[in-house]
Amino acid sequence: MTSEVTPMPQIAQLQVSPEISHAFDLAFLEAEKFRGQTNPNPPVGAAALDAQGAVLGVNAHRFSGESHAEAGLIENLKKLGKAELVDTVVITLEPCNHFGRTPPCSEALIRDLPRLKRVFYAQPDPNQKVSGGGPGRLRQSGIQCELVASPAIQRRGLELIAAFWVKTQLGRPLITVKTVHRGNYTKESLERLAAELPSPEFENSMIPPEGQATFGDRAQLEQAHLLRRRADLILTGSGTVLADQPSFTVRYVDDFKDKKRKIWVLDRRDRVRHQLPEYFDLAAKRGFEVLKVESEFDYSLPSVFGYLSRLSQNDSKFMEVLVEAGPRLTKAILLSGFYDLHVVMACCDPNEKNKPLSQTAITAFTLFNEKTFGFAQS
Ligand SMILES: NC(=O)c1ccc[n+]([C@@H]2O[C@H](COP(=O)([O-])OP(=O)(O)OC[C@H]3O[C@@H](n4cnc5c(N)ncnc54)[C@H](OP(=O)(O)O)[C@@H]3O)[C@@H](O)[C@H]2O)c1
Repeated sequence: MTSEVTPMPQIAQLQVSPEISHAFDLAFLEAEKFRGQTNPNPPVGAAALDAQGAVLGVNAHRFSGESHAEAGLIENLKKLGKAELVDTVVITLEPCNHFGRTPPCSEALIRDLPRLKRVFYAQPDPNQKVSGGGPGRLRQSGIQCELVASPAIQRRGLELIAAFWVKTQLGRPLITVKTVHRGNYTKESLERLAAELPSPEFENSMIPPEGQATFGDRAQLEQAHLLRRRADLILTGSGTVLADQPSFTVRYVDDFKDKKRKIWVLDRRDRVRHQLPEYFDLAAKRGFEVLKVESEFDYSLPSVFGYLSRLSQNDSKFMEVLVEAGPRLTKAILLSGFYDLHVVMACCDPNEKNKPLSQTAITAFTLFNEKTFGFAQS
């Protein structure tokens, strides 16, 4: 499979051992399973290794208020009688050192893992008030604790907590734009397409063939539904709703049981209400809270995203907006710069249609908006 969660920057030569890199992989995969369910907390994964580099256990934070990834990992290892074997722990986010709804993980690592020598983490905590506390406490007690020396793993760590990072640093929700393109693209040709925006090819390749609402294969649909699953609001345009009447529900992967989502259709001429009067009632029946704004609302993109920021400020669990729109609205948003992540996907070879995700090759990557994250793309 050529799909990946984040782009591998050219500067990223792995400077960590294959064992540590593999342990991070497992921690990321575990954390991804709960991404969007842990709000207002970030998703976090952790893995423990013995002195030979063998993985002893993997765990992730699941719900806010429940145990942190490291605390749950330690509990599991204690139950299995393996706590004494732990030499190294890798965590996708730096370990905490404060009492919140759960006790500090740094203390649990020191107290319950008697042979622990090294802790590596993929991202510092974006909350300046607590950042550095956990690593400092571990170092004080003689345990090496460092940001992992791999830009690729660090970037994957940032992508995992992007919603938490944006909410903490900027006080607004993460805006993720998803675009799916028709055609047999390689990663390089798809990257070129995304970089050349706006191009007629970028827009045309987003339109499904006559008579179809989507053109993705199973693998691409699963990826798209994972993005939907973690979103708190789906933002779309009237063109998409009128063309496809999409349900925007999570179907190709298991949904989170109690996750509530909003939907907002940008529709300056109110065409959906007139041409598809039942659409919003059906969306409400599917569990969406349908956003309605007053008729004199100014639909300029600064107003739209200002409104979303205010909603997020009043709701700690509202952390990510997924833009699932057609080429008109998507292009306007990408060109305006009011977005943080752009997830670009292309379908796989038609011969691979309907194979499970693990067996198919789709091309998918995430581009970071430099304006938000303040670093060069590669
Ligand atoms: N491949 C993909 O990733 C993907 C995803 C979704 C949809 N699609 C396809 O896209 C097609 C529909 O394309 P589309 O471009 O018409 O759909 P769209 O981008 O979802 O909707 C466009 C409409 O949004 C409204 N809008 C409101 N505010 C806007 C703003 N600031 N800038 C631009 N538009 C704004 C406009 O109508 P008003 O002027 O009336 O407000 C505009 O006509 C369908 O065939 C669908 O299948 C593809």
